[in-house]
Amino acid sequence: MIIGVPKEIKPEENRIAIVPGGVETLVHKGHKVIIEQSAGLGSGFSDEEYTRSGALIVHKHEDVFAEADLILKVKEPLIEEYDLLKSGQVVFTYLHLAASEELTQNLLERKIIGIAYETVQTEDGFLPLLAPMSEIAGRMAPQEGAKYLEKSFGGRGILLGGVAGVPPANVVILGGGNVGYNATRIALGMGASVTVLDINPRKLIRIDEIFQGRITTMIADNYNIRMVASYADLLIGAVLVPGAKTPILISREMLKTMRTGAVLVDVSIDQGGCAETSRPTTHSHPIYEEEGIIHYTVTNMPAAVPRTSTRALTLNTFPYILEISDKGWEKAVRENSSLAKGVNLIEGTITYRAVAEAFHLSYTPLEKVL
Ligand SMILES: NC(=O)c1ccc[n+]([C@@H]2O[C@H](COP(=O)([O-])OP(=O)(O)OC[C@H]3O[C@@H](n4cnc5c(N)ncnc54)[C@H](O)[C@@H]3O)[C@@H](O)[C@H]2O)c1
Repeated sequence: MIIGVPKEIKPEENRIAIVPGGVETLVHKGHKVIIEQSAGLGSGFSDEEYTRSGALIVHKHEDVFAEADLILKVKEPLIEEYDLLKSGQVVFTYLHLAASEELTQNLLERKIIGIAYETVQTEDGFLPLLAPMSEIAGRMAPQEGAKYLEKSFGGRGILLGGVAGVPPANVVILGGGNVGYNATRIALGMGASVTVLDINPRKLIRIDEIFQGRITTMIADNYNIRMVASYADLLIGAVLVPGAKTPILISREMLKTMRTGAVLVDVSIDQGGCAETSRPTTHSHPIYEEEGIIHYTVTNMPAAVPRTSTRALTLNTFPYILEISDKGWEKAVRENSSLAKGVNLIEGTITYRAVAEAFHLSYTPLEKVL
């Protein structure tokens, strides 16, 4: 199979979808790997390392797409890339389709096979390709929140951990899944007072057990969210309904009741965001203010730490890449039910229900298309 790996063109995106070790394995198995010049530099991998592993380095972005059967990316294709995609090409990447109808429509028109990292799911409900980035974004969230709580950024001017005689900041985390757990771990480590809310009582039991009563847990109903929002210094959005648009839990009205200068780190922005006022930002302009609340809404938070993220991502994606390359996407999907959950689009058809529902488009179960 011919596998193409372009350089990511999203602003400040320094991750790459494959490491030299992965290239070596694919080439050893008889596949051809084409990598765009300097695509790995931001993650610490030189063109020479990829060449030594057997990759062919090309100079132009479009040359990666021209003959590849399988395109490996990190982030969703951007507008500049739509016309480079070819009918029948497999694109394996984070797609986050439910957050953008424009992207969904364009990929449908291009008749690609879109396999989304974020909806690959094991039988027990685990999201193995979202998990490593959620771990990173979750751990970054209190760090970013702490920074923007500083006065010079317009924040409340409060130290997350407080000091002797002065109470710590109140960190409220909406969603006790992977991002929520990791954010809790770091926020607690920084000395904050932490409250976690989730709609799933099992998630609350688990997180309560892990942290041995050092955090407060609450069910995420509107009443409780309104109450905790009113005293939060740092609010972290960490909710997910797999593949679907994020539910709006923080209305503009609720935002108005929050403390001026509080910070909202909406990690769930990649699926649309959990606040009415959330809109995507980039690492070069990560924050904006609405109703006195600093919003940090970067859709690719792990891109800030690419040396960690690329390794964490690719060690999890690589077994699936190998399976798609060795068997072809159709056989791989038939034989691997977790990978099958990742298939969002097949040549103009939506095969992931939550994506179709997000835009009232028609949905066809995967089995009917295969
Ligand atoms: N911005 C970034 O760079 C970045 C990076 C990684 C992950 N993410 C995003 O972070 C979000 C969370 O990911 P995750 O891996 O923690 O998911 P997860 O599935 O592990 O956890 C999500 C949690 O949200 C809970 N939930 C669902 N609906 C809820 C509601 N209405 N109220 C309260 N809780 C609710 C679920 O019960 C679950 O415990 C996702 O949108 C993911 O795409 C963003």
